[in-house]
Amino acid sequence: MASERPTQRPRVFSGIQPTAGSFHLGNYLGAVRQWVALQETHDAVYSVVDLHAITIAQDPKELRDATRLAAAQLLGAGLDPERCTLFVQSHVPEHSQLAWVMNCLTGFGEAARMTQFKDKSAKQGAEGTTVGLFTYPVLQAADILLYQTDQVPVGEDQRQHIELTRDLAQRFNGRYGDTFTLPAAYILKEAARIGDLQDPAIKMSKSASSPKGIVWLMDEPRVSAKKFRSAVTDTDTVIRYDPEAKPGVSNLLDVYSALSGESVARLEEKFAGQLYGALKTELAEVFTDWVQPFRTRTLEYLDDPAELDATLARGAAKAREVATRTLEAVYERVGFLPPR
Ligand code: TYM
Repeated sequence: MASERPTQRPRVFSGIQPTAGSFHLGNYLGAVRQWVALQETHDAVYSVVDLHAITIAQDPKELRDATRLAAAQLLGAGLDPERCTLFVQSHVPEHSQLAWVMNCLTGFGEAARMTQFKDKSAKQGAEGTTVGLFTYPVLQAADILLYQTDQVPVGEDQRQHIELTRDLAQRFNGRYGDTFTLPAAYILKEAARIGDLQDPAIKMSKSASSPKGIVWLMDEPRVSAKKFRSAVTDTDTVIRYDPEAKPGVSNLLDVYSALSGESVARLEEKFAGQLYGALKTELAEVFTDWVQPFRTRTLEYLDDPAELDATLARGAAKAREVATRTLEAVYERVGFLPPR
């Protein structure tokens, strides 16, 4: 089963939650940018993971809008539905079905060790923490394993979830026979963890303490430009890449390099002898030049929700071709009596 491949290309799978009004720059540089590049070389499958989104309470209308907006942003960023499979997770019921089987293979203690769960549940408090949030990483494992995935392009914060996915795949294969491909995390060193612009020691995240530290892709570009110009650096004045000693400047250099394609070493030369203000102002311009066409494209996709929904329906049909095959093999191996 694991070796059964519909194409010769290695497969990548990844997902993104439709939980905010917009993706932030960490989502884009840590994950989505790689998704776009990988559709050229890989059999690429990407999902807007709405089942994951409801692990934290969502307003129904906002969730529906955010799901379309997430899909539109992925297309705006350059995903091409002709060259990848793009779908909404809840449109493919096999995700929930496989997740149940994987839940029954996951140790309680094993799930309790997930650091994202510990962080998020600490923020939500005991009352706000659902069992769904607890088993979030198991659903993520099901997403990945359903597609016999080789690589998973994500940010560094997802590494532990991919490790859990590998453990569960190995456990299933060991118990029931070779069924799942063992996936590997695909994490780019430079963009693995984009820092908050006000507090570069923490990752840019929608639950950031200060709204000034987070760059939303769908905000007016001038709002984001201002955030770059007031980013926290340090009391020194030298523009040098040193993530330990100079996390703020290094974060700005990482972002600049990722958006412009210029290496960090080249940027250090370019800004030698200049003050932080010059770096911040130029970065604000580089970002604006990139984000303007991205926003325009995204808004165009949003302008035609019927076409967007049709694209997602085609994506779900493509995804199900693979998902049903895997789930059938799993059900058979686990010992479920086939329905007549
Ligand atoms: P989500 O929506 O929270 O994040 C989407 C992606 O953005 C990356 N990311 C970052 N990368 C670098 N720097 C940052 N500051 C930063 N903030 C976020 C995340 O690592 C992620 O890749 N659990 C997944 C969703 C998911 C999934 C999957 C991913 C569900 N099923 C299967 C891969 C495979 C998540 O974190 O989504």
